[in-house]
Amino acid sequence: MTPLPDAPIQVDSWLSGDEERTLANDVLDGLTKPFKELAPKHFYDARGSELFEQICEQPEYYPTRTELAILRDRATEIVERTGAGELLELGAGASDKARVLLDAMRAAGTLRRYIPLDVSQSVVEAAARTLVDDYPGMAVHGVVGDFERHLAHVPPADGGVGGNRIVALLGGTIGNFPPGTRRGVLAKIAGLLGPEDRLVLGTDLVKDPQVIEAAYNDAAGVTAEFNRNLLHVLNRELDADFQPDAFEHVAFYDRRHEWVEMRLRATRACSVLIGDLDLRVEFAAGEELRTEISAKFTAERVAADLEAAGLELDAWFTDEAQLFGASLARVPAAAAG
Ligand SMILES: C[S@@+](CC[C@H](N)C(=O)[O-])C[C@H]1O[C@@H](n2cnc3c(N)ncnc32)[C@H](O)[C@@H]1O
Repeated sequence: MTPLPDAPIQVDSWLSGDEERTLANDVLDGLTKPFKELAPKHFYDARGSELFEQICEQPEYYPTRTELAILRDRATEIVERTGAGELLELGAGASDKARVLLDAMRAAGTLRRYIPLDVSQSVVEAAARTLVDDYPGMAVHGVVGDFERHLAHVPPADGGVGGNRIVALLGGTIGNFPPGTRRGVLAKIAGLLGPEDRLVLGTDLVKDPQVIEAAYNDAAGVTAEFNRNLLHVLNRELDADFQPDAFEHVAFYDRRHEWVEMRLRATRACSVLIGDLDLRVEFAAGEELRTEISAKFTAERVAADLEAAGLELDAWFTDEAQLFGASLARVPAAAAG
């Protein structure tokens, strides 16, 4: 637990020694599969988080600006529906979208606390320091952790007036999980919701594949650098000897599954030693390592996933061009008892 000086801020970190082992185990599983793959959460060290913020500013990357616009249009309504005074944001990143919801809570007179949770310590600490200054009187309780493993450590809602909570999972992050796992993650998140709380879920939508593919292949090459950052993480954290320049960025839309795949393709045969695991991994020339899927949704797919996770769709918001969707979900009244 790290109290930051002179402010109503607390940051708890649940990623310590055991986190290295999680990365190690994921690498051991992922790089010994017949088709190599790693989970996208490992992109996000401080550099990875910085690169993601740069991706969000690329002209081809429509999701961030579109989701922000939807939230700006709907924040007042979202806050009115919950009376919430607290925002718990999972995979918070730079917290830019949180500001829109926090502004609406401030305008409604309910704002009390913001809880950003992210695997990236740098973003949680930066968000905590900045937001506590920008929202006088609001407490910030940051959680450095993995929302697949550490939701039990999220501080409970403190009840009372404005005690209802909005839980947000934005940026299409839920699409990074394959369909079954995705429903499991949503079910765990559902366990955080009280009867009046709402989940705000941001999902990128199925659309013209060219628009989608351009977003993941920006002309400036930022997404390519973000993708290769994973290899730098492995070199640093697990004493691996990847040569990141020997891998090229690949991103394409899989029309059958309706998701984007990001991969790293070995441009020549290479033999990589993961020192900490005493593991040697061979890549044939042209062999690919899958680093991310990013599922695209329809309103029906979101509703089905929510239902499978024990939630019900309460409201569906989208932009005029139907590029991105934001849903409000709740625990069904019967289940909330
Ligand atoms: C696609 S970015 C979205 C960032 C921000 N919410 C936005 O909408 O722009 C995903 C964020 O979730 C975080 N993240 C990914 N997997 C996570 C996990 N399992 N637990 C906690 N944070 C995670 C990353 O560090 C990153 O900040």
